[in-house]
Amino acid sequence: MNESLAIHGGKPIRQKSFPKERKVGEDELAELREVIGSAWLFRFGGKKVEAFERAFAEKHGVRFGIACTSGTAAIHLAIGALQLNPGDEVITAPITDIGSVTPILKEGGIPLFADVDPETGNMDPENTERLISGRTKAILVVHLAGNPCDMDAFVDLAKRYGLILIEDCAQAHQAEYKGKLVGTIGDIGCFSLQQSKHITTGDGGICITDNEELATKMALFMDKGWERGAMTPHRRYLMLGLNYRMNEITGAVALAQMKRLDWVTSERHRKGTMLNELISECKYVKPQKVLQGCKAVYWHYELLIQRNAPFTADEFARALSAEGIPCWAHYIGKPIFLCHEAIQRQKVFGDSRFPFDHASREVKYDETTCPNAQDYLNRLIVLPLHEFLSDDDISDMAKAIIKVERGLSH
Ligand SMILES: Cc1ncc(COP(=O)(O)O)c(C=O)c1O
Repeated sequence: MNESLAIHGGKPIRQKSFPKERKVGEDELAELREVIGSAWLFRFGGKKVEAFERAFAEKHGVRFGIACTSGTAAIHLAIGALQLNPGDEVITAPITDIGSVTPILKEGGIPLFADVDPETGNMDPENTERLISGRTKAILVVHLAGNPCDMDAFVDLAKRYGLILIEDCAQAHQAEYKGKLVGTIGDIGCFSLQQSKHITTGDGGICITDNEELATKMALFMDKGWERGAMTPHRRYLMLGLNYRMNEITGAVALAQMKRLDWVTSERHRKGTMLNELISECKYVKPQKVLQGCKAVYWHYELLIQRNAPFTADEFARALSAEGIPCWAHYIGKPIFLCHEAIQRQKVFGDSRFPFDHASREVKYDETTCPNAQDYLNRLIVLPLHEFLSDDDISDMAKAIIKVERGLSH
């Protein structure tokens, strides 16, 4: 006898609310007290931002960390360091935040979107290779929801075509690909410290690299391009940078957050893996696939409705919510270029067509550009998953998923 679904008047699996995330506390206060006590809030001349940069770089086993004001700023530092010519191309992911895309356009580059693997939602290397041209300067991979991309294939592409490989790790702190931390496999790793991320300063970001030339350029771009400290008769600006400097208050919180990083990411990995196992009997709903040898860190939990399922993602999400499990369907809804009208129309600088008037070929952003990405989003359900959930909470999530699949399959 099947239990009646809550959406049909049955008893919900979960009747109490889930624990909330609480991401800051005494460690952050202690670091902040020191900064306020010093009365010095500016990163140059202060200690906290530099200490955070060092700690973050060391944690990743690389030489350079450049802190900044957001994940979008981190991507902008990386793209700024490329010193693109107008119309140069950067290949990136269709399922991402707009912060992966805007910096490419702001630097006069043209974003091209590689379609995704149908089971991981991550950029597909073969699709990426098909987009490479003489104008391609970089590949910007995005580790979606904390799930590493197929990095061997992307490293191979970058080497064969002489491209810079940038990793957008905004959602993927401490995720691993074959034993290597994401962000250290390509030339540059970019991280966000926005409120929802594994560690947070409310807003913030950081880039890491082992490449001294790129590190120097990113540090300049972060600080208006100013050759700070040079004893020249007049100020010299070496590139057209912006002010993306992290301040000491943010740096203090970031430094304290480093203490939480291992716990947060290992708990998310453990809980995500546990949920995968608990729902392995499901036929019509499957977790986002994690490639062999990878450690995913579950920024959120992605569940995919299989194509032969007798229900839609919207129907499943409604029924699962009624069981007391927070979730929503479709994440960003459409590939990112279809979420932004000006980008889709290729009118991003006033009435001009810049940088598309410098393109070496026709660029199209429409429904046919990334069909797999649209199909993935159509079938996607997102569940919040975080370090404060107990094993019993995860078990309730699994029970509800199994119950809803059964209940909707008749
Ligand atoms: C994949 C990805 N890239 C970039 C960003 C931009 O980060 P921020 O919001 O810190 O600017 C985000 C933020 O959600 C993201 O998820």
